[in-house]
Amino acid sequence: MKNKFYITTPIYYVNDRPHIGHAYTTVVADAMARFYRAKLGADNVFFLTGTDEHGTKVAESAAAKGKKPQEFADEVAAEYREVWSKLNIGYDEFFRTTDPRHEAFVGAFLLDLYDRGLIYKGDYKGLYCVGCEKYLSFEEIKDGACIVHPNKKLVEQEEENYFFKLSEFAGRVQQAIQSGELRILPEARQNEIVGKIKQGVNDVSVSRPGVSWGIPLPWDKNQTVYVWVDALINYLSATEIFAGKDDETSRTGRNRRDFWPADIHVVGKDILWFHALVWPGLLLAAEKPLPKQVFAHGYFTIDGQKMSKTLGNVINPLELVAEYGADGARYLMISAFAFGADGDVSLEKFKEKYNADLANGLGNLVARVAKLAEKLPKNPTKISASMPAGKNGKNDEDGENFLPEIEKAFAENRPDKALEHVFERVKNLDQKIANEEPWTKDGEELERFLKFYIEELLLIGANLAPFMPATSAKITQIFSAEKIAKPEALFLRK
Ligand code: MSP
Repeated sequence: MKNKFYITTPIYYVNDRPHIGHAYTTVVADAMARFYRAKLGADNVFFLTGTDEHGTKVAESAAAKGKKPQEFADEVAAEYREVWSKLNIGYDEFFRTTDPRHEAFVGAFLLDLYDRGLIYKGDYKGLYCVGCEKYLSFEEIKDGACIVHPNKKLVEQEEENYFFKLSEFAGRVQQAIQSGELRILPEARQNEIVGKIKQGVNDVSVSRPGVSWGIPLPWDKNQTVYVWVDALINYLSATEIFAGKDDETSRTGRNRRDFWPADIHVVGKDILWFHALVWPGLLLAAEKPLPKQVFAHGYFTIDGQKMSKTLGNVINPLELVAEYGADGARYLMISAFAFGADGDVSLEKFKEKYNADLANGLGNLVARVAKLAEKLPKNPTKISASMPAGKNGKNDEDGENFLPEIEKAFAENRPDKALEHVFERVKNLDQKIANEEPWTKDGEELERFLKFYIEELLLIGANLAPFMPATSAKITQIFSAEKIAKPEALFLRK
C-alpha cells in the first residue's frame, strides 16, 4: 500500500448555508481520512475541504444581503468551519479560493496553458444558469428552464470567452479512465462518463467577461477566471501552498507537495462531469499526474422530495448535532444509505434509527456490560496474561487495529458497509448476552463471560474510531480501566 493518502471534498459555494448534503460528503470523507491516518500515520494523510468563493452566484447573494462579496464569503466560510468543528471534522486544511496564494497559482497555471497555445479566445453563445454556474447543454434544459434549478431564470448570453482546448485531451482522458489509471467510481458512473465522452467533447470556457468577483486573467484583465476552473485547481494549489505555522487554517505547517496526485476526490454525482473530464483535461494539459479516483456519491432526498429552500425541508446539520450529538449525527448520515447510491432520509427515520441502534443498541450494550463488570473487583481482561497484543488479536505496532471486514470495505470505498459491519457485531454481542444470561452467573463463570464481552467491546470501540471518534474513545476508556464502573449513558433516548 502507498504510504500517503490525499483525500478531498468539493469546496462548497458560500452562497448557501451548510446543509445536510454538504455535511454528508464531508463526514464520509472525514471517516475515510481518519481510517487512513490510523493506518499510515497522521502525517501521511492530507484531508482537504473548503469553500468556493468567487463567481456570479456568490456576488449576487452578497449583494442581496447588502454586503461586499469578500465580507459575505468570510462570514459563510466561518459558518462552514463552525459546522465542521461541531461535527468533529478533522480536516488538515480548510481551503478558500480567495486565498491570495491560490489566486496567484491559478493565474500562473492558466498563463502557462495560454503561452503554450492551449487556451484561445472565442465567442460563446448560449443559455447560462447561475445556479449551476455554467452554460447548459440541450439535454440539461426542460420547458425552457434548467432541470436542476427550474426557478432560476436562464440568461441568454453571447460573450467573448477564453477557451481551453479540452477536445484535444478528451481521448487521453478516456484512455486513462479505461486503463484504470483514473478510476471513476462507482463502476456504473465510469460507463456513463465514457459514453458521454464518446459522443464528442467541446472546448470549455476558462474565463468570462463582466464577472468582477473573480481572479483576473493575467494576460487580459477584462476577463476573470471561470469559477469552476478556479475551484477545480484548488485540489492542486493546496498541495503547492506552503502553509506557515501561524496559518490558522492549517493544522500543521508541512510542505504538501508530495501529496499530489490525489488518491480520491469525493464528490456528489451532480458535479462528476467537471471532475471526471474537465479537471483531468486541465491536468494533462499542465503535464501533471491525474488523480487516482473520483468517487461520485448519491443524493439525499427528504421525505421523498428534493431538498430545497422553497419547500422548506432543508436539514441543518447543527440541528442534528444538537439533538443527537456529533457522533449520533455522523452515524445517522453515514449509515443513511449505501455510499454511491441515492437515498431518502427524514427526521422521523433519524429518530427511530438513533433510538434503535444507538440508545437501545450500542449505548445499552455498553451500560449493561459495564454494570455487570462493576460487580467484579478487577477488570477481567487485566487479570489473565492471555490478553491479545492488538485489539483484534494481531500485533498492532503499526497502528493497524481494524478488522479485516473493515479494511475490505474501506478498500472498496464503502465506509457505510464498514460501519454496518461494526453494528452487526453490536447486535451479535447483544444476542449472545441474552442467550447466556450472565446476570444469573457468578464467580469464575461470570468473569469468563465478561472477559469475552469486554474484549469484544474493545474491538468494537477501536473499529468505531473513524466514524464516531468520541464514542470510540469513551468505550476504550471504560473497558480498559483497572476496575470498571458503570458510566453515564452514551446516548440518551429521544
Ligand atoms: N462549488 C462547487 C464544487 C466545486 S469542487 C471543485 C459546488 N458546491 S456546492 O456547494 O453546490 O456543493 C456541492 C456538493 O454538495 C455536491 O457535490 C455534494 O457533494 C453535496 N451535496 C449538495 N446537496 C446534496 C444532497 N441533496 N445530497 C447529497 N449531497 C449533496 O458544487
